[in-house]
Amino acid sequence: LPDPDAAALTDPDVAVLLPRPDAGSDKYRRGVVGIAAGSERYTGAAVLAVGGALRGGVGMVRYAGTTAPVAQVRARWPEAVITTLAPGQGIEEVGRVQAWVLGPGLGTGDEAHAVARSVLASDVPVLVDADGLTLVAEDRTLLRRAAPVLITPHAGELARLLGVPRARIEARRLEHVRRAAVELGVTVLLKGSTTLVAEEDRPVRINLTGSPWLATGGTGDVLAGLAGALLAAGLSGYDAASCAAYLHGIAGQDGPLAAADVAEALPGAVRSVANRPREDG
Ligand code: APR
Ligand code: MG
Repeated sequence: LPDPDAAALTDPDVAVLLPRPDAGSDKYRRGVVGIAAGSERYTGAAVLAVGGALRGGVGMVRYAGTTAPVAQVRARWPEAVITTLAPGQGIEEVGRVQAWVLGPGLGTGDEAHAVARSVLASDVPVLVDADGLTLVAEDRTLLRRAAPVLITPHAGELARLLGVPRARIEARRLEHVRRAAVELGVTVLLKGSTTLVAEEDRPVRINLTGSPWLATGGTGDVLAGLAGALLAAGLSGYDAASCAAYLHGIAGQDGPLAAADVAEALPGAVRSVANRPREDG
C-alpha cells in the first residue's frame, strides 16, 4: 500500500536541492568539510570518505587523523588539508569547517573516544557513521547537541543504537527509521538495498537508486564523505542525506565495482542529475 508519509526520491527532487557553484563562489562558501575517520588499522575508510567528499564537489576537505591514515590520505588526495592528531588529541586545532564526518574506520578505543567527543562538542552539523555509531551507542547523550546530527547506520548499527534485534529492524525498516529519528532526535539515513531517510515530522524519503554491486566493503564510507560535503555546503541533514543516497546509488548502478570506483563515478552522477533536460521546457 502506498504510504502517504513516505515518498520515493526522483531526479527533479535532487536537481532542485543540489548545490551548484556560480561566478561568485569560493571554496569556503561552497563548503569545508572536516573528516575524522580512519585509524592505524583501518586506513582505507579515511581515503574513501575523503574521496566521497572531494568527488562529490566539496569546496575543501580538512582531514584529521593519526599517522597511518594521514600517510594514505596524503598520498591519494593531495587536495585535502591535513592535521595529524597525537594519540588522545581532539580536533580543536583543526581549522574552521562547516560540518564534520565522524566515524568511518575510526576504531572504538580511547583515542577514538577523544576524537568523537571533540567533534560532537563542536558547534557545526555532524554526520556520525560506522565506529562513530558504536561510540554513541554506548552513550546516547553524546547526540544531544545544539547543531544538527545526521546518522548513517546500516540495520546492524541501528539495532545496536536502539537496542532492538537486527532481524526486527530488517522486517520493519520504515517503522524503525521513524522511531530512531524521534527517539534520538536526529536525522537518520538507514542503509540497505533501499535507503530510507527520516526526520521527525517529515515524510520518510525512499531512495531507489543503486544496485547490489554496492554490497562491497567501503561504499558506506564514500557515502559518508559525500553526505558530509553536502551538509558543509549548507543543506539540512534531511536534504544532504537524500541527495547523497540518490547520487551514490547512481554512481553504484553498474558493476563490478570497488568502493573507490563509486567515488570516481560521483562526478558523472552529479552531472546526470544537474544537467538533465527540464521536463517543463
Ligand atoms: N543493494 C543496494 N545497495 C546496497 C546493497 C544492496 N543489496 N547492500 C548494500 N548497499 C549499499 C548501502 O545502501 C550502503 O550505501 O552499500 C552501502 C554499504 O554501506 P555500509 O553498510 O556502511 O558498508 P561499508 O561500511 O562500506 O562496509 C564496511 O563497515 O559497518 C561495517 O560491518 C560493516 O564490515 C562492514 C564495513
Ligand atoms: Mg559502514
